[in-house]
Amino acid sequence: MYPRAKMAQTKEENPEVESWEEVILIYNSALKEMNTKLEILNEEFKHVHSYNPIEHISSRLKSSEGIVKKLKKHEREVNIENMVKYVNDIAGVRIICSFTSAIYNIADMITNQSDLTILSVKDYVQQPKDSGYQSYHMIIGVPVYLSDRIVEAKVELQIRTVAMDFWASLEHKINYKFEGKVPDYIRADLVENAFMIRELDSRMEKLNDEVNKINIE
Ligand code: GTP
Ligand code: MG
Repeated sequence: MYPRAKMAQTKEENPEVESWEEVILIYNSALKEMNTKLEILNEEFKHVHSYNPIEHISSRLKSSEGIVKKLKKHEREVNIENMVKYVNDIAGVRIICSFTSAIYNIADMITNQSDLTILSVKDYVQQPKDSGYQSYHMIIGVPVYLSDRIVEAKVELQIRTVAMDFWASLEHKINYKFEGKVPDYIRADLVENAFMIRELDSRMEKLNDEVNKINIE
């Protein structure tokens, strides 16, 4: 076991620009580590259980504009210390899988990795948001090994099915178009469609289970 890593960077230790670059490098490294871990899990799972739980993985670093916007939204002063402390989704990874059960399999596999720290979990699959949004979110502390120390960077992991992702991306576009002021009837439609997505996911999973039970000689 190594000691719990800490974000050692403070404004006093380094000029802002230098530490900005270093902080971004650290988040980028954390993303790479998460991506590698997920690829390994997917490959190994395929080897043992003969199927890929993961359909697709994407990752992104939040833009500096996005980081500033979020700090302002939370009424925090814009500086590197606050960004590291309060912005949980500077590094984001999204895993798209076929079935709801795979969401929990993947989450368990991640939780069982002893070098990762699960900082928080929000299960919007079990408990969808009022908007209808479904997804499983984890904020994970990922250790990054630098030349002279270990630091921990937060990565936001979103795990959802293809159908949940379809819904979330359309809802996101609609929110963007109306700048958040979506007409009530469209909102209501989205909530209804989210129920249909839920039903569809459940039916597809049952169908898949049935198919898996059939042995063809
Ligand atoms: P922020 O929403 O990021 O400020 O943080 P939070 O603490 O509210 O976290 P939450 O887990 O609710 O949301 C994190 C991320 O999930 C968001 O940045 C979006 O990417 C996604 N998300 C949350 N709610 C919705 C939603 O209603 N619709 C869509 N399309 N995405 C959502
Ligand atoms: Mg939110």
